[in-house]
Amino acid sequence: MAISIQEIQAPIVGEMEVFELKFRSFMKTNVMLLDQIMNYIVKRKGKQIRPMFVFLTAKTCGEVNEATYRGAALIELLHTASLVHDDVVDESNYRRGFFSINALWKNKVAVLVGDYLLSRGMLLSIDHNDFDLLRIVSKAVRDLSEGELLQMEKARRLDITEDVYFEIIRQKTASLIASCTAVGAASVDADAASIEIARQFGEKVGIAFQIKDDLFDYGNDEIGKPLGIDIKEKKMTLPLIYSLNKASWSDKRNIIYLIKNESHKPRKVAEVIDFVKKSGGIEYATEVMHTYQDEAIRILNKLPVSEYRHSLEQLVRFTIERKK
Ligand code: IPE
Ligand code: IPE
Ligand code: MG
Ligand code: MG
Repeated sequence: MAISIQEIQAPIVGEMEVFELKFRSFMKTNVMLLDQIMNYIVKRKGKQIRPMFVFLTAKTCGEVNEATYRGAALIELLHTASLVHDDVVDESNYRRGFFSINALWKNKVAVLVGDYLLSRGMLLSIDHNDFDLLRIVSKAVRDLSEGELLQMEKARRLDITEDVYFEIIRQKTASLIASCTAVGAASVDADAASIEIARQFGEKVGIAFQIKDDLFDYGNDEIGKPLGIDIKEKKMTLPLIYSLNKASWSDKRNIIYLIKNESHKPRKVAEVIDFVKKSGGIEYATEVMHTYQDEAIRILNKLPVSEYRHSLEQLVRFTIERKK
C-alpha cells in the first residue's frame, strides 16, 4: 500500500506547522515586485521533503531547537533558489503545476530572485552565528553548482558515462539532501560520528531521489513539471546511458544523432524514449534506485531506533514511490 505524507509527518506535525510560518516570514520583503513573487512562491510550495528530513533526523538524534528550524529554512530557501535558477538554465516554463518564475517574469527577474533567496538564507544563519550549519549547507550549494555545470558540459559533448552520471546527481541533488540530514543531526549537537552517518544516509537517499526524478521524464503522468525535457535539453540520464551502452553501433549512432540535432522535435524525442523503453533502460534504472534505497536504510539503521527513525525509513520509501 502507498505510504501517505501525513503518516510520515505524524511525529513532526507541530514542527512542520511552525516551520511553515517561519519560512513565510523569512520570505517577507518591502520591495513590491519581490514581495509579489515571494507570495507566488510560498503559495505553490513543493513537497517539502527537505525540512522533513531535517526535523526527523534531528529528532532521531536529539531535541529540535531554534537552530533546527533555521537550518531547515536555510535549506528550503536555497532549494527554492536552485529551482528558480534551474528553470532558467533548463528553459522550463512549468514548475509545481504552475508557470515557473522565468515564464511569468522572464529570466532577468528569475536570476535576481534566486540570488535574493540565497542571500536571505545566508543572512538567517549569519545573524544567529549558525556557522557550522552554514558551512555544511554552503558546501552543498557549491556541489550543486558544480554538478549543474558538469551536466552542461556533458550535454554539449554527449559523452557521458554511468560513473559521471552518478557524480552529477550526487553533486546536484544528493549533496543538498545529505545536508538536510547532516544539519538535522548537527543542530541538536549530535556527535561527529552520528552527523557523518546522517550525512551518508542522506546522500544515498538523494541519489535514489534523482534517479526517480529522471525516470519521471520518461513517463506520461502529470508531475507538475514538463516531461521529455531532459532529452530535449540533451541531458542523458541513467535509462538512456544504459540503453546506449548495450545498443548496436548503428543504433547508438542513430540515437546520438537524434539527440544532437533533432531534440527540439517532440516526435524525435518520442523516438528516443521508445528506444530506451525497448532496451530495458527503465527497468535497469529502477533496479539501481532500489539498490540505493537499500543502502540508505542499511546506513540509517546505525542510528538509534525510534518512531522518528521509522518515519525516516518511510520517507525513503516515499522518495521512490512518489507520484510527483
Ligand atoms: C526538485 O526537487 C529538484 C530535484 C532535485 C529533482 P523536489 O521534487 O523536492 O521539488 P519540490 O520542492 O517538491 O517542488
Ligand atoms: C535538479 O535538476 C537539481 C537542481 C535543481 C539543482 P533537474 O533539472 O534534474 O530538476 P527538475 O527536474 O528540473 O526539477
Ligand atoms: Mg530542471
Ligand atoms: Mg537542471
